[in-house]
Amino acid sequence: MGTIPQEHYEPKSDSAKWIESRLPVLGLIDHLRNFPTPKNLNYAYVFGGILVLFLVIQIVTGIVLAMHYRVGETASFASVEHIMRDVNYGWLMRYAHANGASFFFIAVYAHIFRGLYYGSYKAPREILWIIGVLIFVAMMATAFMGYVLPWGQMSFWGAKVITSLFGAIPLVGESLQTWLWGGPFVGEATLNRMFSLHYLLPFVIAGLTVLHIWALHHVGNTNPTGVEVRKESLETVKKDTVPFTPFYVTKDLFAILVFLTIYAVFVYFAPNYLGHPDNYVEANSLVTPAHIVPEWYFLPFYAILRAITFDLFWIIPAKLGGVIAMFGAIAVLAFIPWLDTSNVRSTRFRPIYRWWFLVLVIDFFVLMWAGAQPAEGIVPLVSLIGTIYWFAHFLIVLPVVGLIEKPLPRPESIEADFAAKHPHDPAPGTPAAAQPAE
Ligand code: HEM
Repeated sequence: MGTIPQEHYEPKSDSAKWIESRLPVLGLIDHLRNFPTPKNLNYAYVFGGILVLFLVIQIVTGIVLAMHYRVGETASFASVEHIMRDVNYGWLMRYAHANGASFFFIAVYAHIFRGLYYGSYKAPREILWIIGVLIFVAMMATAFMGYVLPWGQMSFWGAKVITSLFGAIPLVGESLQTWLWGGPFVGEATLNRMFSLHYLLPFVIAGLTVLHIWALHHVGNTNPTGVEVRKESLETVKKDTVPFTPFYVTKDLFAILVFLTIYAVFVYFAPNYLGHPDNYVEANSLVTPAHIVPEWYFLPFYAILRAITFDLFWIIPAKLGGVIAMFGAIAVLAFIPWLDTSNVRSTRFRPIYRWWFLVLVIDFFVLMWAGAQPAEGIVPLVSLIGTIYWFAHFLIVLPVVGLIEKPLPRPESIEADFAAKHPHDPAPGTPAAAQPAE
């Protein structure tokens, strides 16, 4: 354990020395720039950088939208139409923000499943992982509140369905619900507090992200082999890693460009594809939409919420059971570092767990499908089976498979893994790379 040894920064110019002796910010920039990063990272490791970019996109477009948005039972819907029609490039800001939320979630799901596959959560990265889970919860809360703001039919009914869930909590439920609503019903007071919190939470996410990256830089990245960087000396570190700049800056930038291109296709050519047409109908408390569905990124957890249609253990009513299952499905993620009993980090070397991981991914998409369907026919059964597997995966499969599985042989170092894959491609900076090609 311990931090990765890195060359110490020495300011050279007088002005740099002046600044550094007062605030060691240049040393921090140097640390970030040259951070020793395993040289065998694949494209699954680009999503963290993409997430940072999308957090910035959401904050910038959101601040511009807030300049023109107004809160009010009739004002909100009208102000969004005003943004779309009258504000210069307002349509672009709105579509960039709405689709940005979707792409933020695509990246976060890829980032989480990468972490699960490569065992990123295992010691010494438990705190890094738990901060990630907190970010995920904060992202969900932010996206939920943002969706309420245009005050369309889905905004209103979605807010009503989800906030009413809190009413199912024994003793404090009703007070909690009134507190969330800001009164006896979902109305202008609710909208006002949703706006206030929707503006606040992204900055909480930004703060958590700083902690997340701080923890990352303390323990270092994992890599697809799961074998740690050899930290004995600067020499061994140099054999296993490359400096973040320019190697991973270039790789991350390439991935960002590809991701932004797909995002731009949605923003410019299919801006409403991921949304729901009912949200272009103004909120009406007297007309319930035929089928209330949340945004796609909530669907797996919405399916879990609806999966419990019966009283649990004779004492927990179905509605409360659904609420517990939904929050439990996210909370269980925080305990994974202690539920995984395997002494091998990367699933690449886990011949049995590999298949169970595939089942988990399929389960996630099946739940997503079930969440989008009306709760009739086989949908409740599919949701229930999907929910049972979600919990069984983390509470049973992960601990048991880790104990019985015989892992495959792993490379002895990152350097060896890299050399085996790139026999003619010595890492830059090594003496071999300095030789002219024969
Ligand atoms: C705003 C959201 C987030 C941002 C900006 C962010 C940022 C980053 C960055 C820049 C990295 C390093 C690059 C990489 O490995 O991709 C990273 C690594 C990591 N993140 Fe996140 N992250 C976010 C959300 C999450 C979530 C929701 C989780 C888990 C629930 C998570 C868990 C991790 C873990 C475990 C690592 C270490 C990966 C490894 O080295 O194996 N992150 N994150």
